[in-house]
Amino acid sequence: APTRYEAESSPAVCTGTIDSNHSGYSGSGFCNGNNATGAYAEFTVNAGTAGTATLGVRFANGTTSARTADLIVNGSTVQSVSFEATGAWNTWVTKTLTVSLRSGSNTIRLNPTTSNGLANIDYIDVEAGGTTPPPSG
Ligand code: GCU
Ligand code: CA
Repeated sequence: APTRYEAESSPAVCTGTIDSNHSGYSGSGFCNGNNATGAYAEFTVNAGTAGTATLGVRFANGTTSARTADLIVNGSTVQSVSFEATGAWNTWVTKTLTVSLRSGSNTIRLNPTTSNGLANIDYIDVEAGGTTPPPSG
């Protein structure tokens, strides 16, 4: 199973506020980034071994246009991500991304590239290598 990293839980960082006014989020809230370029959500995630990991980014975008962000892993921009309109701020959608992680601690930052800022970010689920327990028996 993936490991869930909530946007409101340290050591995650939200350049904005942790809000709870749009229902359907996991945990105790979500990151409402400031509506500004570079107002990011950052997660610190663990990988048991170096290699490919699958991210599930849960977000809501109640506007009528997509919001774009750079995906920055350990300080390097690896791709641009489009967070499409979800229809309402309380309609949450999970976007799946693939990244390469190193063994141990990694930072994953979503950095908005326009003054609209990020979509609201609820959490990321991370399925990394090396964390599956061995079969028992
Ligand atoms: C509204 C909404 C926020 C959202 C913001 C935005 O204020 O309530 O949750 O973050 O719009 O446009 O980014
Ligand atoms: Ca916002």
